[in-house]
Amino acid sequence: MVRLLGARPVFADVTGHDDLTIDPEHVLSLIGEKTRAVVVMHYGGFSADLVRLAEVCASRGVILIEDAAHAFAVSTPAGTCGMVGDYGTFSFFATKNVSIGEGGLVVARDPERNAFIRRHRSHALTTTPVERAASGALDYDVDSVGLNYRPSDISSAIALAQLDRLPDAQRAREAARTDYRHRLAALEGVVLPFASVPDDESAHHLAAILLPEGTNRNAVVRSMRTRGVQVGMHYPPTHLFSAYRDADAPPLPITEAVVPRLLSLPMHARLRTEDVAHVVEALGSALAEEAHG
Ligand SMILES: Cc1ncc(COP(=O)(O)O)c(C=O)c1O
Repeated sequence: MVRLLGARPVFADVTGHDDLTIDPEHVLSLIGEKTRAVVVMHYGGFSADLVRLAEVCASRGVILIEDAAHAFAVSTPAGTCGMVGDYGTFSFFATKNVSIGEGGLVVARDPERNAFIRRHRSHALTTTPVERAASGALDYDVDSVGLNYRPSDISSAIALAQLDRLPDAQRAREAARTDYRHRLAALEGVVLPFASVPDDESAHHLAAILLPEGTNRNAVVRSMRTRGVQVGMHYPPTHLFSAYRDADAPPLPITEAVVPRLLSLPMHARLRTEDVAHVVEALGSALAEEAHG
């Protein structure tokens, strides 16, 4: 989006091997004359440090945008993810905790910005058919250029129905996380990041781990696949994609140290304890194979 708007994205590093969210102090050091906004992402459902990020943004007069695609309905002491910054965005893509296949949500704290978003989701019409039916107005205006960003009524109805089930689904993800934590403790060198975050302060969108340093991740992925376990990697870092390489970009040493070790274990609301046991067993065997060459 940054590039589509004609702006230049400048990537900041993550905080550390335990906290894989953006480092507010690095953000602060990168804010310059031309900086207009800071975009933060709540990795895997774990909140970035919103208190410090909000302070940093306020001190430099830039807006704070939260990408809360992984963190739907996450309450933290700093507030609800996506609702602390100036804007929050959410995704209902097929893999997300609330999923309608495609589509998303954007919220803004400021009522005028919210009204702007509402108008622009539907061709920038100044009123909606529902508003006209209520007010009796027959006419509307189009006062700027807009597009169609409307989700369909059918997919919205599916999302609303999922909201009823969300608390139970969240509890199931929390239980899977606890189970993973206990079982992974037996595997030397494996790190489960966000160790100090209370289990109920995350959407547990991912179960991302760090493999022991120096592990051949591809070998582990292949080995787990042969044991019937599909694993993922979230994400290859954007600053290394060819479209985003930038010779003047700041170095991101922590990101580059963490990424080769990252692995996402299966995580969803129907994961049973025997599934978690099977995944961790498969990981243990894959790591043992790897260690013995
Ligand atoms: C962190 C994050 N931000 C943004 C997106 C994009 O959302 P969408 O695919 O709904 O546009 C995704 C996932 O697709 C995501 O995981």
